[in-house]
Amino acid sequence: MPLPWTIDPDIRRASTLPAEVYGDPRWLAAMRDRVFARSWQLVADTDAVRVPGSTHPFTLLEGVLDEPLVLTRDTQDRLHCLSTVCTHRGTLVCEHGAVLPALRCRYHGRRFAHDGRFLSMPEFEGAEGFPSPADDLPKIPFGAWGKLLFV
Ligand code: FES
Repeated sequence: MPLPWTIDPDIRRASTLPAEVYGDPRWLAAMRDRVFARSWQLVADTDAVRVPGSTHPFTLLEGVLDEPLVLTRDTQDRLHCLSTVCTHRGTLVCEHGAVLPALRCRYHGRRFAHDGRFLSMPEFEGAEGFPSPADDLPKIPFGAWGKLLFV
């Protein structure tokens, strides 16, 4: 979406953005894709996942990206950020922060390790080609700056 106005590099000639920028859904969609989806977002600090087994579900940029994610700390004390959408039928596998032995989907019982690896699913023993890497929860890039966690 090209800018319908010019930006003067001299700050002394600055002016307010046109009102449409604040209310037109096309601008929100353009900013979501070009700014927010490509930049680091502060989501929590390390206290949210203080001990091994901790989980901290959250929605990334609620109302803009609306991506359900979860921060976890595994038993090796490593941090992870995962999609919390079950790889079976899409139920959220973690809706409340807690210290858990594993993430477990309440719909059909898939279990996932704190690093997103598929662990088990009831009554699927012997299924061919199962599990595959597509059954793991997707990992989301994240980074830490001191105690602050960004995705
Ligand atoms: S939706 Fe999660 S196990 Fe079926």
